[in-house]
Amino acid sequence: MAVLGFSSSSCRSVAVVGAVLVLVMVLNGADLCNGGKTSSFVRKVEKTMDMPLDSDVFRVPPGYNAPQQVHITQGDHVGKGVTVSWVTQDERGSSVVRYWSENSEHKKEAKGNVHRYRFYNYTSGYIHHCTLRNLMYNTKYYYEVGIEHTVRQFWFMTPLEVGPDVPYTFGLIGDLGQSFDSNLTLTHYEHNPLKGQTVLFVGDLSYADQYPNHDNARWDSWGRFVERSVAYQPWIWTAGNHEIDFAPELGENEPFKPFTHRYLVPYRASNSTAPFWYSIKRASVYIIVLSSYSAYGKYTPQYKWLEQELPKVNRTETPWLIVMMHSPWYNSYNYHYMEGETMRVMFEPWFVKYKVDVVFSGHVHAYERSERVSNVAYNIINGLCAPIQDQSAPVYITIGDGGNLEGLATNMTEPQPKYSAYREASFGHAVFDIKNRTHAYYSWHRNQDGYAVEADSMWFFNRIWHPVDDSTSA
Ligand SMILES: [Fe+2]
Repeated sequence: MAVLGFSSSSCRSVAVVGAVLVLVMVLNGADLCNGGKTSSFVRKVEKTMDMPLDSDVFRVPPGYNAPQQVHITQGDHVGKGVTVSWVTQDERGSSVVRYWSENSEHKKEAKGNVHRYRFYNYTSGYIHHCTLRNLMYNTKYYYEVGIEHTVRQFWFMTPLEVGPDVPYTFGLIGDLGQSFDSNLTLTHYEHNPLKGQTVLFVGDLSYADQYPNHDNARWDSWGRFVERSVAYQPWIWTAGNHEIDFAPELGENEPFKPFTHRYLVPYRASNSTAPFWYSIKRASVYIIVLSSYSAYGKYTPQYKWLEQELPKVNRTETPWLIVMMHSPWYNSYNYHYMEGETMRVMFEPWFVKYKVDVVFSGHVHAYERSERVSNVAYNIINGLCAPIQDQSAPVYITIGDGGNLEGLATNMTEPQPKYSAYREASFGHAVFDIKNRTHAYYSWHRNQDGYAVEADSMWFFNRIWHPVDDSTSA
C-alpha cells in the first residue's frame, strides 16, 4: 500500500523512524516532565467578586464611635508583647487598653497612641495602637477597648516561652482581599480542626488599590472583615505589592502609606530600620519577614540586616527557621514570571547555608509546593543554571490563594518543572503544625472541601535536628 507516494518498504522505514522519534520525544518528555503533581481538581469557574459594602461581614459595631477593625500582632521579639490596634470613626475616643489574665480580678491599663492619615480625598478614622508588654507566657488574656456603652471585649492566648520542643500551630493565608471567596477562605481557616494559633500572612491584604483613587474605605471594610479572627489571634504581617499604594497621579508619593499607618510590626525589636523586614521568635520558631518591594541589593538596609540576622538564629533555642516574603522565588505558573528572581539571586545562598526549613510566599493566586531545591551554582559561564535537589535548601510554598477579586491564576507552565512537587489553582489556606524540634506537619486545604480535608500535605523533618530527605513524604 502506497502512502503519500511511499512504497510499503519505505513506509515501514518511515514507521520505524516515526516510532523511534515518538520514543525519543516520550523519553525527552519524561525527562522534562519529571515534576510532581499537577492537580486535576476542578476548581470554581465563576468570577471572583468583592462582597458589597453592606455585607454583614463589614458591619460597623453598634454605638457612637465604637471601636472597629480590632486587630493584634506580636508586639516584641519573643512573644511576651501584643500590639492591639483599632479604629474609632467619629472622634478620637480613648487609646487605653484594659487587660487581665484569666483568673485575675485586677485589670491593668496600657495607654497607646492615636493618629489619622490622609490619602487623596480620604481621611482615615482615628487609628489607635497600644502595645501590651511583659505578659505572662502561655496565658489567656482578656482585653477591652472603647468607653462606656461602646466597650468591646476580646481575648488572646500568649505562646509558651520560646524553646526547642514547644509545639505550635500556624495558619497560612495570603492575598486575601475581601471577595466572597476571601470569606470562604477565612471561614475554612477558622473551622479547620487543626486550630491555627497565629496566622502568617504573606502579603496583599485589602486590595483597596483596585478601587478608584485606591478607595481607602476598602481598607476599613477589610479591617472589619478579618476582625473576627485577628482580634483573637496575632497575624504576622508581610508587605505585598497591594500594600504599596504608590499613586503619584493622586499626589500620593509615599509608598506603603495606608499599610504602615494601620498595621504595626515589631521591627525595632529585631534591630530592623523599617517595618518591612523584621524577625520574631514564637514558640520553637524563628520567623524572618522580608520585603519583596524594598531594596535588597548589596549594601542596602535590608541586605545588611539579613546578613547580620541569619547568624543570630540559634537553632538550639528555635530549631525551626521560617521565612516569609510576598513574591515567590520558585513559581511554575505563567503569572508574575521571574518577579522573585533578583531577590533569589541575592539571598538564596544564605538560605541554603543557614538551612531555612520553609519559605512561604503569596502573590501568585494559586497553590504550589516545591521540592527541596537550590539554584546557587551558576556563575555566568559554567552553565549550571538549573535548580537541583538540595537537602540543605528550603521547601518553597506559594499560598497566594486567599481569594481576592483578581481571581485565580490558572495558567501553568508546561511541562511541570522538576522543582515543583504539587500545584493546583484553587483558593484555600494552609497550616504548619510544629510537633517538636524534629517534626512538623504541613497541610493545604482548598475551599471546596470539608473543613478537615487535606488536599496536599507533607511531614517536615527539621533541617538541623533531623536532616533527612523529607521531600517525598507527602
Ligand atoms: Fe501580590
